[in-house]
Amino acid sequence: MSRARHPAAEKWDESDEALLRLLTMLSGKGYAFVTPTPATSRRMAERRPTAPLTLRDILGWSRPFGRRDIGPEVFDLLETAGCLVETEGGLRSSVRVSTVRGLLFLHSAFPATATDAVFLGPDSYRFADLIVRTLRSGPPVQSVVDIGAGAGVGGLVAAARLGAGADLTLLDINDHALRLAAVNARHASIPARCVLASGADGIPAGVDLIVANPPYVAGQSGRVYKDGGDLHGARLSLDWACQGAERLRPDGRFVLYTGSPILDGGIDQLERLLHEQLDPERFILDYEELDPDIFGSELRRQAYDGVERIAAVAAVITRR
Ligand SMILES: C[S@@+](CC[C@H](N)C(=O)[O-])C[C@H]1O[C@@H](n2cnc3c(N)ncnc32)[C@H](O)[C@@H]1O
Repeated sequence: MSRARHPAAEKWDESDEALLRLLTMLSGKGYAFVTPTPATSRRMAERRPTAPLTLRDILGWSRPFGRRDIGPEVFDLLETAGCLVETEGGLRSSVRVSTVRGLLFLHSAFPATATDAVFLGPDSYRFADLIVRTLRSGPPVQSVVDIGAGAGVGGLVAAARLGAGADLTLLDINDHALRLAAVNARHASIPARCVLASGADGIPAGVDLIVANPPYVAGQSGRVYKDGGDLHGARLSLDWACQGAERLRPDGRFVLYTGSPILDGGIDQLERLLHEQLDPERFILDYEELDPDIFGSELRRQAYDGVERIAAVAAVITRR
């Protein structure tokens, strides 16, 4: 693996510390927010908020605010963290804070349009649920790697469930994601190595559990959390699963959550390719459709010609 970026490493600075204090303050106030789809966030943005604005308006719905709408403590923390943005409509926070399974996660504010935006959305909730369900049975787990960790949802939910002793590594190619993931990990009191790395590159052999929710959207939006490569966006899912599975110890599991493009005629190409590429003598593949139809609005785009729907799927690969 390439460069380590651990909360304890020298890169941890006063802006990270300010974000950590923001999370501590929010948990003290019982803050909770569930991030919905971009379409729902857009509809909420069109609604007039009722005065006075709340922390959920500012840090959840990413609404613009004035200096008087926000207490001096939150203002100072956002300012020190470099997360206050001046816009025509007023100030905005560049970070959003969401709750997933009782943990707080900093990620990018809505709309997450920057190339290096840090994703967290309904897929992250389904991914977390899948991990928790998978961990209810199976062999003991100590080492956990989350590929394309983003804000750290998969890895941190897994480690929280496993308790003390989990050895967690969060991988991403987005340094900004690793920065927020490091703060989220420290807030959750979960030690985590945050490492800048592409796909399964450099994962040591013999890992107990690998989890991934890769980018799976077809075409080129320029956003690293979205673009899944060829095969109508299924390329990264296929490659991470096949390469990562090789890194598992015997009985180790790879938990893949992704969106699979279902081709005209009802063909799940990702499922077919996983079956073709994972040697059944060495791996057991459990594949399941979790939701038959997600992000249907994407099908308008040319990149989805020949695709009849996008399904949320789970693939759990066990090394024999
Ligand atoms: C859909 S987001 C999922 C984030 C997080 N796992 C979650 O479920 O909330 C995909 C993540 O993969 C990362 N990513 C994209 N290409 C990658 C690559 N080649 N190697 C590692 N991570 C990558 C993105 O930066 C992004 O954080």
